Amino acid sequence: MSTAQTAAVANALGYKDHSIGGFTFKRDEYFAHIFYPGGRHIMQIDAFLRALMRDVAWGFFYGTVNFDTVFGTVNHYGTVEMFIGLFNEAYRANNRHHVETFESKDLKKVFEEVLADWTNEGFDPFAAPDETGTVYGAKKGNNIKAITRQRLVADRMVGLPGDLGYRTDQDGFTVNRQFQDVPQDKPEIHAAQGFENEVHAFNFFEYVSRSDVTWNPSVVSCVKDSQFCATTEEHVLPITHGNDRVEWFIQATDEIIWDIDDRATGRPRAKVTMRAGDVAAMPANIRHRGYSPKRSILIVWENNDGGLPQRYASGELAPNPVDF
Ligand code: PHB
Ligand code: FE
Repeated sequence: MSTAQTAAVANALGYKDHSIGGFTFKRDEYFAHIFYPGGRHIMQIDAFLRALMRDVAWGFFYGTVNFDTVFGTVNHYGTVEMFIGLFNEAYRANNRHHVETFESKDLKKVFEEVLADWTNEGFDPFAAPDETGTVYGAKKGNNIKAITRQRLVADRMVGLPGDLGYRTDQDGFTVNRQFQDVPQDKPEIHAAQGFENEVHAFNFFEYVSRSDVTWNPSVVSCVKDSQFCATTEEHVLPITHGNDRVEWFIQATDEIIWDIDDRATGRPRAKVTMRAGDVAAMPANIRHRGYSPKRSILIVWENNDGGLPQRYASGELAPNPVDF
């Protein structure tokens, strides 16, 4: 396990280099450069920072977070692998891949430093491209507020007195410009006398239409290991996710087109167009990336059972939940 980390120095543009183990990250006006023993990789800076934001915010997520077809991380829940070419057929066939394992907290710290140092004032890696300023050029300020957003945790059911999670115009959560067609009517509540502070309902579509972030599933209900996560999607999922378990999607509004590729090699397997009302089970042996031409609402249903990755990896469980 690598832990070596070197002190960061700023380049002529004001950005620092960041290193951990054999990896060094450098940024210039347009690109992130990733140096590793035996080679170098390059990514557009906006794509890199949007992917990095998700990897940090989600604590390396479930399974594999591919930043592109070459670079990414694999979560081992306590430790994490950072890789070049691990899930790229050509890199593997030519033995050009490179993998290092880190304590999750060590890599998270370095990723947070890169994100804070390289995100300029006005650029929000969680925002849709049409709703944020430019990421390019020399270092200019920062956007710590955007990159350290914390999810709101409901203390009680959203909207009940004492809960902090409700979103209103007054709190700055206005209905998104692309969700003007989402019905905003409120449910009627007829609580029996004495139960006015305990019985409540709210319009979930209204609630989600006020989200100011994209491609960031938030847990909205959690029953044992069943996690329902609502998210608003616009433009493209900044990562290609290779899950270590089956994952379900429920398309609640509008449309997302998914590229589904083999998880290990990246070979294309399917194009799936999901329209409002469609439900899909994403198998445990694929990677996927979604494209949402208009902002849409998606529900991601994850099974948080920590024993699943091993059961899929060993072949005990089939990668698809049902055979037709
Ligand atoms: C996924 O990889 O399954 C995923 C991630 C983020 C989203 C939606 C889906 O917003
Ligand atoms: Fe996924």
